[in-house]
Amino acid sequence: MSVSREHFSSRIGFILAAAGSAVGIGNLVGFPVNAAKNGGGAFLLMYALFVFLICLPVMVAEMAVGRNTAKEPVGAFKTLSQGNKLWGAAGFLGVLTPFMIAVFYMVITVWIFGYIALTVTGHLDYLASDEGFGLFINSPYLYLALLVVASIVSFILAAGVKDGIEKAAKILMPSLLIMLIIMVVFVLSLDNAMAGVTFFLVPDIDKISPSVINGALSQAFFSLSLGMGILITYGSYIDKQTNIPNSAKLVAITDTGVAFIAGLMILPAVFSFNPAINPSELSDSSVSLIFTFLPKIFLALQVSLGYVGASSVAAFFFILVFFAAITSLVSIIEVPVSYLVTEKKHSRKKALGYLTITAGVLTLFATASFGMLPFFTEFTWYAGASKSLFDVIYDVFYDTILPLNGFLLCIFVSYRWKKKQLSEELSIGNENYKGSWVEKYINFSLGTFIPAIVLLIFINTVASKFFAVNLFGL
Ligand code: PHE
Repeated sequence: MSVSREHFSSRIGFILAAAGSAVGIGNLVGFPVNAAKNGGGAFLLMYALFVFLICLPVMVAEMAVGRNTAKEPVGAFKTLSQGNKLWGAAGFLGVLTPFMIAVFYMVITVWIFGYIALTVTGHLDYLASDEGFGLFINSPYLYLALLVVASIVSFILAAGVKDGIEKAAKILMPSLLIMLIIMVVFVLSLDNAMAGVTFFLVPDIDKISPSVINGALSQAFFSLSLGMGILITYGSYIDKQTNIPNSAKLVAITDTGVAFIAGLMILPAVFSFNPAINPSELSDSSVSLIFTFLPKIFLALQVSLGYVGASSVAAFFFILVFFAAITSLVSIIEVPVSYLVTEKKHSRKKALGYLTITAGVLTLFATASFGMLPFFTEFTWYAGASKSLFDVIYDVFYDTILPLNGFLLCIFVSYRWKKKQLSEELSIGNENYKGSWVEKYINFSLGTFIPAIVLLIFINTVASKFFAVNLFGL
């Protein structure tokens, strides 16, 4: 049975879908906090260098592998390695990883949906209270929220590549950008906003340490949706006229641009709420920033805007984050969907059905691992601490396997598929590619220092996460 593969309808559709995947909670919250705490302008510069010198070649390679084979990671690795079992296993990791990351991302998206529901129904004060978040994450209503979020994602995915993924991105991405700009303008008009801007932008080189460098690179890698098979899968839906290096560049610029603009929203808001704050007091995790700190800031707006006004601003913000999260979730679940359709020959609807049930059940367990069920809350124990199921999924797949997948992809493309084939593929739709310095840079970096760096990150993460051993001062 050979069914022709569905394609994005246009280059811009593809770029928006890929950017939709890349722009997520990491950009809107993780990046601003990281930048502010770790050297401001100095961090921004380093991050931008990482995006363009290290991440962009990986992104280009993923898209090329996808377009060349017209398959998802398992099919693509199998095809290009002529059925080699070990490379097939590497491809399988490229499907398992997004499936598991989807579970933890889904938990957070469900919370965001819950926050929207609670702010529009007038419960901002509850969310801003000290015990609000703790009670919220153990509320049985979350299962209802899970049902709604899963239905939205399944609805988009069921409509297919063009009418589902692309259409959703075409609606949600521009809306998100407009909402983000409105929020920035609003936040910059608050008192003391400029102190936040200064903190965000002024470089402080002293803060740059090996662990900050490691963190910046991991953040860039995650933010561009690399190592999750997503860009291989999306690349399999583009046609031969598409100029891959150029498209990848636009995706990276959009992603980095949104992260930068988000900094102009989050930090001024933090400073206007508490002008004396020292950002090192901001918690490390984006989770506590979005779910416990920001609601307090929104509630404080009631002095000037009234309770309804403050709740509206909060709802507007959470809807913005929700849009970003939905396009990311859609992209990550499309990878296993595509695997079941391409490799296992299931219909799209059936594949979605299986995934909704399996990922849904796992999400249920992960949601219950914040105290609801002791079995999942105290799931296991390593590196001197008890870990919940959510922690395990996060540590294993996000922190550890992601760089490993990046490493395997670089080695695969450079030494198994071979640089010559990569160049052939990339010169389709880009006749000036061959002989250009971009080609030279991509071929050289993918075969040498990029895999070396991500391998180092992988080894260091395994040592520190699971054995509490600090290897390189990272
Ligand atoms: N790039 C997304 C972000 O920054 C991460 C992501 C993408 C997560 C796709 C899941 C799926 O938040």
